[in-house]
Amino acid sequence: MAFSSITRTPNALGFSGSSFNGKNQFPKVDLSHFARNLSGKKTPIPKCSVQTRPTSQPRFIQHKKEAFWFYRFLSIVYDNIINPAHWTEDMREEALGYADLNSRDLMVIDVGGGTGFTTLGIVKHVDAKNVTILDQSPHQLAKAREKEPLKECRIIQGDAEDLPFPTDYADRYVSAGSIEYWPDPQRGIKEAYRVLKEGGKACLIGPVHPTFWLSSFFADVWMLFPTEEEYIEWFQKAGFRDVQLNRIGPKWYRGVRRHGLIMGCVVTGVKPASGDSPLQLGPKAEDVSKPVNPVVFLYRFILGGLAATYYVLVPIYMWIKDQIVPKDQPI
Ligand SMILES: C[S@@+](CC[C@H](N)C(=O)[O-])C[C@H]1O[C@@H](n2cnc3c(N)ncnc32)[C@H](O)[C@@H]1O
Repeated sequence: MAFSSITRTPNALGFSGSSFNGKNQFPKVDLSHFARNLSGKKTPIPKCSVQTRPTSQPRFIQHKKEAFWFYRFLSIVYDNIINPAHWTEDMREEALGYADLNSRDLMVIDVGGGTGFTTLGIVKHVDAKNVTILDQSPHQLAKAREKEPLKECRIIQGDAEDLPFPTDYADRYVSAGSIEYWPDPQRGIKEAYRVLKEGGKACLIGPVHPTFWLSSFFADVWMLFPTEEEYIEWFQKAGFRDVQLNRIGPKWYRGVRRHGLIMGCVVTGVKPASGDSPLQLGPKAEDVSKPVNPVVFLYRFILGGLAATYYVLVPIYMWIKDQIVPKDQPI
C-alpha cells in the first residue's frame, strides 16, 4: 500500500535555490500544493516533508570508510535483523512494482545490493543472468553469493558514486536502502542517470527524515535521512523526467512517519535521452585513499553505531504499539 504519491515535472518545484554538492543546504519549501495521492486527490503533506534541517549534521556513518566497517559487522546479522524490522517482503514487492520490471530480458543493476534481499525480488521478474549486484562491502556480497536464486547474477564490488558500467548500459537501475551512506547522493543519482539507456528507469528506495525530535537527533547522528524534496531535486537535477515519489513503510507503523523510516519512499525517474547526465559536478566529496586519524575514526564509528541502535528499537516500539492500541485508534 502506498501512503501517497508525489509527481513533479522539471522546474516545477519553486525551490529558493540550494546546493547539494556535499554542502547540505536545505531550503524551506512548501510543497503542499503539489501533493497528490494515487487517485489524484490533494493530500496534506505531513510535517516531515516540509521541514528545514540545520546545515550541520554529524552523520557519522555517511562516509565510505565508516560504511565499510559498519557492514563488516552488520553483514553477520543483516538478513535476520534489518530486513524483518525495516524492509519486509511486502514492502519490497510494492516498491519493485514502481520499477516496471516488465520483461525477463531487462538488463538490471542493483546498486548497494548488499546481501541480495532486494535482488531476490528482482529475479522474480527478470532472468538472474541479466542482473548485476554491486556493493562496496565484500562481506555483504559474500552473503548474496550464498543465495541459490542469485547464483547466475553478476556480483561486483564497487562504488555507487562511480559505477563501473558504460554510459547507456542498463534498462533498470534499482537501489534500496543505500543512498543514506553515500557522502554525495547527488553524484550517485547522476551515475544512475548515466548508466541507464534512453527510456530506462531508476527506482531508488530510501529513508525519510523524522519529525519527532529524539528520532531526528539519532537519525542525524547516524546517517543521511533525506527529505522528500531532496530526493526529487536530486533526480530532477540529474536530468530524470517523470519523477515520482511514493511512500512506503512497514504495515505495523500504520502510516506513522514521525520517527522517520529507513525504507520510507520509492523514487522513480525516466532517462529521456541517451548520454551522460546534463549535471556537472566537481571532484568526489570523499577520497577513500586518504589516511584517517584512527582515534577520530573510532570515535565517529562508535557514536554512529550507537545512534543506529535507536533504529533497532523504533520498529519494536511501533510493533508493540500496533499490538496494544485498538485498530481504529491512531498510534
Ligand atoms: C541497508 S543495506 C541495503 C542492502 C540491500 N539493497 C537490501 O535491500 O537489503 C545498504 C547497502 O549499501 C551498501 N553501500 C553503502 N555505501 C555504498 C557505496 N558508496 N557504494 C555501494 N554500496 C554502498 C552497503 O555496503 C550495504 O550493503
